[in-house]
Amino acid sequence: MNEITLFTPATIANISCGFDVLGLCLETVGDQMTIRKTTSKGIKITQIIGQDLPLETKKNVAGVAALALLENIDTTLGFEIEITKNIKPGSGIGSSAASAAGAVFGINKLLGEPFSKQELVAFAMQGEKLASGSAHADNVAPALLGGFTLIRSYHPLDIIKLETPKELYATVIHPQIELKTADARAVLKKKVSLKETVVQLGNLGGLISGLYTSDYNLIGRSLHDEIVEPSRAILIPEFENVIYNAKRAGALGGGISGSGPSIFALSKGKEAANQVAKAMAKTYAHLAIDFDVHVSQINTEGIKIIS
Ligand code: HSE
Repeated sequence: MNEITLFTPATIANISCGFDVLGLCLETVGDQMTIRKTTSKGIKITQIIGQDLPLETKKNVAGVAALALLENIDTTLGFEIEITKNIKPGSGIGSSAASAAGAVFGINKLLGEPFSKQELVAFAMQGEKLASGSAHADNVAPALLGGFTLIRSYHPLDIIKLETPKELYATVIHPQIELKTADARAVLKKKVSLKETVVQLGNLGGLISGLYTSDYNLIGRSLHDEIVEPSRAILIPEFENVIYNAKRAGALGGGISGSGPSIFALSKGKEAANQVAKAMAKTYAHLAIDFDVHVSQINTEGIKIIS
């Protein structure tokens, strides 16, 4: 195999109660990447369609992630990467993660899979570090492993793939304002009280328990962020109203997608998720801000090979 074309999915990080540790993978939103073997060593980003992003390897998240992989293997081969971006950078649905994860996934396949998915997560995290200044794994892990993932530990890296209830759907509204992850991290408080920690831990346990038992109401009750969301919500127009109206339309619950500005809700069944999409769109209709709304089942596979 000399060339591979991939669907590299969007992801929702944090999922309210799991800042930097929980994420899920979307089915219907994502980029396309083609990766080609070359005989000249190194990584070359040959084309980026759809967004104005740096082609210089060391300034590109896919390039940096790919270089991290190549530093850990003895090969005379090099790789060219072409990216068609559908996920806007700064949208909160894992744009940089899709590119970083896609690069390492594709190169690993072309090399005959010398690395496990856990190892690929570590390389892809280098792309996240370039994009946001923090090597968080809660977007790249679900992009690579699919479904819901938990980062049980960063040092050493220990990633658990969680269960996905069959009827769970995500609805995401993406207001077309850019909110950089680095800026959304800068507003976070540095200290958390014991009381807030207790609330957060209860919900994190509740959400994971709900995923394993397909207890949709428990999932809904657990979608609460005591620690991060209060600091970030003010950066997102109509955040509280979107969540309120989404729940009224039948959503189990919701919150900020990753570091925002996208807002997500989870629902039981596609019909409910579509109603939630309408309610979210209606909430934004009166604002002078363009937006997209996506409805997606949870993608339990992660990155998909197109050809
Ligand atoms: N966990 C990260 C954050 C996700 O909330 O900053 C960024 O997409």
